[in-house]
Amino acid sequence: MQHSICIFGGTGFVGRHLARALTARGHRVCIPSRRPERHRDLRVFPGLKLIEGDVVHDGFVMRKALEGCDTAINLIGILNEKRDTGKEFHAIHVALVERMLNACREKRVSRFLHMSALHADAAQGSSYYLRSKGEGENRVHSATGIEATSFRPSVIFGRDDHFTNRFADLLRKAPVLPLACADSRFAPVHVEDVVQAFVRSLDRPATIGQRYDLCGPREYTLREIVEYLARVLELKRIIIGLGPTLSKLQAAILQHVPGKPFTLDNFRSLQTDSVCPEGDAVLREVFGIEPAPMEAVVPLYLRPDTLREHYTRWRRTARRP
Ligand SMILES: NC(=O)c1ccc[n+]([C@@H]2O[C@H](COP(=O)([O-])OP(=O)(O)OC[C@H]3O[C@@H](n4cnc5c(N)ncnc54)[C@H](OP(=O)(O)O)[C@@H]3O)[C@@H](O)[C@H]2O)c1
Repeated sequence: MQHSICIFGGTGFVGRHLARALTARGHRVCIPSRRPERHRDLRVFPGLKLIEGDVVHDGFVMRKALEGCDTAINLIGILNEKRDTGKEFHAIHVALVERMLNACREKRVSRFLHMSALHADAAQGSSYYLRSKGEGENRVHSATGIEATSFRPSVIFGRDDHFTNRFADLLRKAPVLPLACADSRFAPVHVEDVVQAFVRSLDRPATIGQRYDLCGPREYTLREIVEYLARVLELKRIIIGLGPTLSKLQAAILQHVPGKPFTLDNFRSLQTDSVCPEGDAVLREVFGIEPAPMEAVVPLYLRPDTLREHYTRWRRTARRP
């Protein structure tokens, strides 16, 4: 069945992959964006409409984007806030979601696919990020008239991600890398596998009401991931794992650096290992997806000798204001 889908946050890392997959299957997609001129390349996808506006501050844009749609997908999320109070996390992960649900009811959009995060938990989450994600997810699933499915991924990797590319940039610049929370565990999941889970849930009524933990096939410590990235980049680097006190100190300092590369709230999130007790079972058994390990994908976009890597790096730097 062909759908008409509004993707909130559709210009981001996951959103761009998802928009491509949905339009390739003939679905119509509308994406509201604060800066559509930066994402003009998305217009090459057939059936994709970009509209200008800030859904966080403008309810009219939100309703306009939902006009004529049967499904809404929410990918808007933040990892940092200006002050360490939880207020911005609540505004984006809870209050904004509540307004989306109201707008969906008003526009008779009943299907809602929601991006949460692994270990999001309104009561027990170890950070503002995880608690606010948990509360947002609860609102989605208790909303009347909404057929919701939530996705709770570990860290997501892929071309243009914010994870492997960020560490790759650091490794290129620094011969010695002091690594906070080096023993934290992750089960990185490939963006195309996450996207497939969204796409396949569209026409499966059994997914309504479900919350799915999404993990990749292998678990690693952060140190193992960074060491692996250095090998892919063919760089000899010294990686120094910091203990809890120094990790927290690094967060306290870096959260005042422009761009907030690491914050106290990130530090608190990393106190919970981002792994699934059931491994990659959800992707395999619920969605019939064979999840890709990092080793099968990362060298395709990070290896220094590939033309594609030069292009990716050029695009990332060119986009900076
Ligand atoms: N990436 C991961 O590893 C990962 C892991 C677990 C969960 N998630 C969740 O997955 C979702 C998508 O992640 P992503 O990595 O694709 O995010 P992203 O690249 O940062 O994209 C988020 C998009 O949201 C839009 N947005 C609108 N208002 C915003 C606001 N006030 N602040 C920030 N963004 C705003 C932005 O579009 P415009 O600028 O065009 O308006 C942006 O393109 C998020 O909810 C995230 O929490 C991600």
